Amino acid sequence: MFGGIREDIKTVFVKDPAARSVLEVLTYPGLHALWFHRVAHRLWRARCASLARIVSQVSRFLTGIEIHPGAQIGRRFFIDHGMGVVIGETAIVGDDVLMYHQVTLGGTSLTHTKRHPTIGNGVLIGMGAKILGPITIGDHCKIGANAVVNKDIPDNCTVVGIPGRIIRRNGAPTDSAVMDNTINRVDPRDDTIQELMSRLELLERHSEKLEELIERIETHEGLPHNHNHHHPYDQDTLPGYEVSI
Ligand SMILES: CC(C)(COP(=O)(O)OP(=O)(O)OC[C@H]1O[C@@H](n2cnc3c(N)ncnc32)[C@H](O)[C@@H]1OP(=O)(O)O)[C@@H](O)C(=O)NCCC(=O)NCCS
Repeated sequence: MFGGIREDIKTVFVKDPAARSVLEVLTYPGLHALWFHRVAHRLWRARCASLARIVSQVSRFLTGIEIHPGAQIGRRFFIDHGMGVVIGETAIVGDDVLMYHQVTLGGTSLTHTKRHPTIGNGVLIGMGAKILGPITIGDHCKIGANAVVNKDIPDNCTVVGIPGRIIRRNGAPTDSAVMDNTINRVDPRDDTIQELMSRLELLERHSEKLEELIERIETHEGLPHNHNHHHPYDQDTLPGYEVSI
């Protein structure tokens, strides 16, 4: 048991550059919640469900971190800051996982089945990330702050955004068209954007036809052609607009 506590404290020094002394680290709510959870989980497995729940709720009251006593947590797990973390009953967390505040490992169904995520080894879960449903996050993945993930993620991926998308796999960027990372984030796969794009194409075709028609009328009437017609949707003639999708 004391070996485990020593390992937990060492883990904090590895994963939190702000940690300076053991005394300071002993005040970390992430550690308290983990230790409370170990007690609660033992009680849960010993079929003392009510007592287990009481321990986990006391832990929640003191730390702001809610870990269901049924959740299976691996070794060297560290929750930094911690406030607002929720880990559901059937969640499984691997070894060496680092998690920040306001993360939810939540369920998406009300049935008594495995309904919470399984997190692989060495995963980083950024602050505010929500991982929902009985999905699996592969080993050594990084889940970006505030991402919402509800699909399985293979090993060694970086996932960001809502819905969560893989932007990097095995260290290499994935298809850059998958998402635009400019500050004014526009998702080219978004339905509204897709519809706007097809309407724009339609408008362009109409405008080309109109131009042809004008030219024919000008020829018919013997009027001089105005060669200064700009295609209204020509990229070069749109001052100040940069379409970045
Ligand atoms: C997702 C994360 C792990 C990626 O880190 P990384 O591997 O160093 O990747 P980068 O910082 O190079 O980012 C890669 C791209 O994803 C974008 N990105 C990074 N994090 C993002 C996020 N949370 N949401 C949306 N986009 C994000 C970056 O802007 C960058 O886009 P670009 O390629 O167009 O420039 C990291 O950004 C993150 O969110 N970590 C969580 C940190 C945290 O919660 N800290 C709390 C401390 S209290």
